[in-house]
Amino acid sequence: MAKGKEPDLMDKLNSLCKRRGFIFQSSEIYGGINALWDYGPMGVEMKKNIKDSWWESMTQLRDDIEGIDAAIIMHPKVWEASGHVQNFTDPLVDCKNCKQRFRADQVEGKQCPNCGGELTEPRQFNLMFKTHIGPVEDEASVAYLRPETAQGIYVNFQNVLGPARQKIPFGIAQIGKAFRNEISPGNFIFRSREFEQMEMQFFINPQEDKKWMEYWREERFNWYLNLGIRKENLRFHQHEHKELAHYAKEAYDIEYNFPFAWKEIEGIHNRTDFDLTRHAQYSGKDLSYFDDQTKERFIPYIIETSAGVDRSLLVFLVDAYHEEEVKGEKRVVLKFHPRIAPVKVAILPLVNRDNMPEIALRIFHDLKHHFKCFYDDGGAIGRRYRRQDEIGTPYAVTVDSQTLQDETVTLRDRDSMTQVRLPVSRLSEIIKEKIKDYKLA
Ligand code: GAP
Repeated sequence: MAKGKEPDLMDKLNSLCKRRGFIFQSSEIYGGINALWDYGPMGVEMKKNIKDSWWESMTQLRDDIEGIDAAIIMHPKVWEASGHVQNFTDPLVDCKNCKQRFRADQVEGKQCPNCGGELTEPRQFNLMFKTHIGPVEDEASVAYLRPETAQGIYVNFQNVLGPARQKIPFGIAQIGKAFRNEISPGNFIFRSREFEQMEMQFFINPQEDKKWMEYWREERFNWYLNLGIRKENLRFHQHEHKELAHYAKEAYDIEYNFPFAWKEIEGIHNRTDFDLTRHAQYSGKDLSYFDDQTKERFIPYIIETSAGVDRSLLVFLVDAYHEEEVKGEKRVVLKFHPRIAPVKVAILPLVNRDNMPEIALRIFHDLKHHFKCFYDDGGAIGRRYRRQDEIGTPYAVTVDSQTLQDETVTLRDRDSMTQVRLPVSRLSEIIKEKIKDYKLA
């Protein structure tokens, strides 16, 4: 289903996310704070699943990428070397009448969108959040909250290379928070001021940049497909020369067909030797690499894959959202890939008597060692299934009167709503198989 034609989907998702504990506005009891979000019990599970899946594909399943976790606040010279102090800016205009601020490129050729007032000439506005280190707030103590995690990788290039006994080509992966004082944030969690990135920097011989660019484009596109995102909702956008970031020679975005437009969810950049060369200049340290096979010394090129955790989470929500008509009633169901689903298995006693809750709790305490589970004995069974559908739980185990006789239960499939009867003793094994082989119908 093409999502571009459902303008109210974002409102529906926003309210579902609040109602079911995925995402809340930050500091909501104080009226909220713009473009900052808190993740609730379901959201945090989902976020963790996204990060685990990325981390597994980048590090555990390969032997040429190492992980790190660098500090959010780095030496301020890092941001001079990286070009962010000078170039990480958006042009900003003020309305002389109502004093509202806008990004110049978004109001170009128009009068002020709010009141029709006259706009000032554009000024460059740096998107990095500033803070001070230590008790004195002066120019010498200025530091920044990182606007991308990538720089923590570049400055640790030599540190990782030695102990990890890696040789080029190899990569370093990192997941962590990034901060940008965005001028026009919006579309729920799509663009916020605090978010998480999953970035991987792959260090290569400069002569192999075409090959690795091609390789990483494909790998990263497939990651979304393997987690159930529909192919027709994904595409590449190649940056034209004028769109390229100050560090990039070639760049592709992976874009998703959001209800509001096709928009970037991940960037794949050929950053050349820009970052290592600049850090070598600014730090005075040698960041070159000696290839002991070819006996060449060079500054490696870097192919970067840079994805947003929050933006991916929004993609998984939008792609999974379905409304269906079931027996004359509307069913809202999030058809997440089971790896992404916050809860994998719901355990439900059919009724709240005849020893069924006790048996269901026994199953729950056993299965929770294998999967994130949820026990629910409140209300009619149909309503409990619907509640699980709404948070995207792929499997529901129901204990009924037959369980009392032969230790079997029913296993309900979220997508098809069909049920099969299984022995309790085989539940974890069968659910594991189903998660492994999952395909959306
Ligand atoms: N290190 C390269 C870099 O940061 P980017 O295209 O500016 O490149 C990469 O950002 C990804 O980070 C984006 O594709 C998006 O998923 C995420 N991202 C960037 N800014 C964001 C924001 N304000 N809110 C949420 N996610 C953001």
